[in-house]
Amino acid sequence: MRHLLSTTDLDRAAAIRVLDTAAQMAATQGRQIKKLPTLRGRTVVNLFFEDSTRTRISFETAAKRLSADVINFSAKGSSVSKGESLKDTALTLQAMGADAIVIRHQASGAPHTLAHAGWTEAAVVNAGDGMHQHPTQALLDAFTIRRHLTGTATNPDGVGHDLAGLHVAVVGDVLHSRVARSNVDLLHTLGAEVTLVAPPTLLPVGVGPWPAAVSYRLDDVLAQGPDAVMMLRVQRERMSTAGGGFFPSPLEYTRLYGLDARRLATLPDHSIVLHPGPMNRGLEISADAADSPRAVIVEQVANGVAVRMAVLYLLLSGDGDTPGAAPATGA
Ligand code: CP
Repeated sequence: MRHLLSTTDLDRAAAIRVLDTAAQMAATQGRQIKKLPTLRGRTVVNLFFEDSTRTRISFETAAKRLSADVINFSAKGSSVSKGESLKDTALTLQAMGADAIVIRHQASGAPHTLAHAGWTEAAVVNAGDGMHQHPTQALLDAFTIRRHLTGTATNPDGVGHDLAGLHVAVVGDVLHSRVARSNVDLLHTLGAEVTLVAPPTLLPVGVGPWPAAVSYRLDDVLAQGPDAVMMLRVQRERMSTAGGGFFPSPLEYTRLYGLDARRLATLPDHSIVLHPGPMNRGLEISADAADSPRAVIVEQVANGVAVRMAVLYLLLSGDGDTPGAAPATGA
């Protein structure tokens, strides 16, 4: 693996390898081994052109726990605000010796351009590009689902398992969601059955070829007893008011597609609820659903650190093409 730009970069074996490596990383954290020497002397740049809380902080935490040097770059307050291009920004980071660039950008495809335009030698990790992909989010979601739904007392993280036989409902603003796209691809690769649930206005045109079923009726899908329900954030900032804005209205949306205590009670006992965050409490998810024991939303954030440690390790440790390689552990 040279870069991680999309979950479509990962076949089943590669995806399981990332998840299994993340399980090893999580185990070191569980043993209170906060710092591994693995990436000592390497430099990871967090290049964020869009706001982020979870992704930016967890990549920073992950890199530091692997002993890498970390440079945080935010477009706000940088020369990007004076009009500097992505190319010149990348050339500047290359001159400073970046080994990995973690990029979030509002333009779909920006990480791909950065990886392939010849402006940098660094490994590029997509931390979310426009409405396109957010691969590490999908990996941490898969890690969380696998842990809860395939883990056993002797193998709590479900190491070695895929997600075959599981049914995941992905609910809400699919149209604007890079999380949904990444998840549909990865869940399919790992053998899960996926149902997208959304009003027709919040589904992309041409969703047909996606490897997922589609429903407009949340209650019908919940009645099928999905193993995991992934609620999506309604992305009002990406909606064009010129195009009619948000339809159905927020009240109607909550009535038809919001997850609340009543809907939660219809799920099988083992079902879990995910949300990538940030949440619009009271819109796509009620406070009692978000805070219920079924919700694994805070755990997703914690798992994000282990998954990002795994991704940085596999990209930078030099054995990224060797299936089954184990991360070095240490003090
Ligand atoms: N899930 C996610 O990408 O959250 P942030 O925007 O806070 O990084």
